[in-house]
Amino acid sequence: MPSAVLTTALCETLGCRYPVIQTAMGWVATPELVAGTCNAGGFGFLACATSRPEQAEADIARVKQLTDRPFGVNFLMEQPGAAEIVESIVRHGAKAASYSRSPKKEYIDKFKQAGILCIPTVGAARHAEKAVQLGADIIVAQGGEGGGHTGSVPTSLLLPQVVQAVDVPVVGAGGFHSGDGLVAALAYGAVGIAMGTRFLLTAESPVPAATAQRYFAATVNDVPVTTEVDGMPQRVVRNELVSELESSSQLGLLLRALRSALEYRKMTGASIFELLSSALSMQKSDKLSRSQVIMAANAPILIRRAMVEGVPAEGVLPSGQVTGLIEDQPTCEELLERIIGEAEEALARLRG
Ligand SMILES: Cc1cc2nc3c(=O)[nH]c(=O)nc-3n(C[C@H](O)[C@H](O)[C@H](O)COP(=O)(O)O)c2cc1C
Repeated sequence: MPSAVLTTALCETLGCRYPVIQTAMGWVATPELVAGTCNAGGFGFLACATSRPEQAEADIARVKQLTDRPFGVNFLMEQPGAAEIVESIVRHGAKAASYSRSPKKEYIDKFKQAGILCIPTVGAARHAEKAVQLGADIIVAQGGEGGGHTGSVPTSLLLPQVVQAVDVPVVGAGGFHSGDGLVAALAYGAVGIAMGTRFLLTAESPVPAATAQRYFAATVNDVPVTTEVDGMPQRVVRNELVSELESSSQLGLLLRALRSALEYRKMTGASIFELLSSALSMQKSDKLSRSQVIMAANAPILIRRAMVEGVPAEGVLPSGQVTGLIEDQPTCEELLERIIGEAEEALARLRG
């Protein structure tokens, strides 16, 4: 058992041994990765933001086959089929749901009635306050160095700000990979850490070797934030595609976005009506511009090219800057044991 300092309120609330969350990552946080995390003592979130309801249902059932530990599910409240995904989450009794953009009161109320914890991710203190008003039980505060869609405030500033702003437990995210980081987050007043990129580079992650290699090769300076993928700030490993997008004409970007939208429609089987209502809902609740909405399908399609099809030069590789510090691909169990061991050592060092 870890020391009492490392057995935080998060462990008790989520029913996990260690205060470490594996965050959802589209195409990456598969049932195998989630179960690997949960069986090793962490708490994993299944990625369903790019799934059709049937796929989400099958994936949730698969997690339950692979682990008897509690786990969470991530989705977008405005994605096509969101209502059915909420039903699956409730029916299967997942422990928690995570979401970020456009929280919908109707779905949050359903989770609360079913005793499912609501754990949104935010990138700004004011968003944390709003999320708590809407019913969040725990807040994940992700600093700007974090992977995927991200804000501009670094974790070292955002985390204490959010801890101060809300009266629910806060988990730090963005840039974590080690036990020292876990101890630092606890010192800021967090109850644990959440990691994406670090779990992307584990043995249980489905990421093809050619794509993983790009993450290993990147330094902390090779992971810029770009708005050219889907119009929103997204931190990614710089590659051929990102350079191409950044030098494309408006017409070139529009044609690519339309191609992605068609592919997205084929991939999800969503009707034009579903896609339009999802786009309208995004535009309204996330205050997105028309061009951001048009580009929205780029992200899932281009991420799939790298993460599933294994063609990193032609796809998008969302990543935290922390990839510049990661050099190995341990199993989830090795990773979590190592982090807890390092945290124990850091605590002993601090106690002198
Ligand atoms: C490949 C990848 C895909 C991601 N996909 C999602 C997603 O589908 N939903 C989501 O809420 N966050 C997503 N994120 C953000 C992560 O869940 C997490 O918040 C972030 O990676 C934390 O920062 P770190 O990478 O520095 O640990 C993604 C991040 C990465 C690296």
